[in-house]
Amino acid sequence: MDLISVLDVADEIGRIFKKSQEMKGEVRKGVFMEHLKNRTLAMIFEKPSTRTRVSFETAMTHLGGHAIYLTNIETQISRGESISDTAITLSRYVDCIMIRAKRHNDIVEFAASSAVPVINGLSELEHPCQILSDLFTIEEKKGGLKGLKLAYVGDGNNVCNSLLLGCAVTGVDISVATPNMYAPDKKIVENSKEIAKENGSKVKTLNDPEAAVKGADIIYTDVWISMGQEKEKEKRLKEFKTYQIDMALVEKANDPLVMHCLPAKRGFEITDEVLSSSNSIVFDQAENRLHVQKALLCLLLDEKGMLER
Ligand code: CP
Ligand code: NVA
Repeated sequence: MDLISVLDVADEIGRIFKKSQEMKGEVRKGVFMEHLKNRTLAMIFEKPSTRTRVSFETAMTHLGGHAIYLTNIETQISRGESISDTAITLSRYVDCIMIRAKRHNDIVEFAASSAVPVINGLSELEHPCQILSDLFTIEEKKGGLKGLKLAYVGDGNNVCNSLLLGCAVTGVDISVATPNMYAPDKKIVENSKEIAKENGSKVKTLNDPEAAVKGADIIYTDVWISMGQEKEKEKRLKEFKTYQIDMALVEKANDPLVMHCLPAKRGFEITDEVLSSSNSIVFDQAENRLHVQKALLCLLLDEKGMLER
């Protein structure tokens, strides 16, 4: 099994969260179970990272294994070796591969040639590890997910796309407010609506942040300029000006949890005041990347019979 979209583990979410909670408890007690002893994770980064890199690397250390940090520049990919040949070669050495890629299709192509599980560590289309950790964080704080209302305000980007799917599969109502030009991926919106219908929840896409946050238990935002969009900076800053999460907007919701995948641009998509307020759970989200990814690694490698009991 690969983890390229949130949907790849849709049926396993309950099990993943149970394991994440267990593993978080163990870390708190200083217990480290070496489920991945002698196992290696290769991590390929075509874009920068703080959380994804450090949480995956630490996850492998906690589990008794090892992680190798690679960039496209340092590998032969930079000199034209094909994705497919790279995937076949790496899977002769390592037990799992995580990729943060510029093009989502490269991850799909990589997974098609890899003999070991491939994890999407962010593409322009999705950021599944982030959203699984975020839903776990919400469950921790609220005691459950079904029936909650989440409002996403800002750019309809990778994080927003995965959030739509994640909310749909867990029965969370989601309202997404973006400017027309920056709406989330059409296919993902349609797919989320269908899945949500089966789970008795709602998916709405609109333009008005105030309408989106009305009655919301959670407000989520992300940067207005994602990695690789730096050239669009001026245009985006103008288009998103009225999409900032400030205290006035937070007060229109239902004493909401405030979430952001980080890194944040304080003073742009979210004010310093909101990010530092007691509503904000952004660093709990960041921490949970570690616990949830440990559970994910165990799930993916267990399928291959690679887990130490
Ligand atoms: N949220 C997230 O993926 O952060 P990094 O870019 O630091 O990995
Ligand atoms: N949307 C952001 C998320 C960073 C974790 C980006 O793609 O840069």
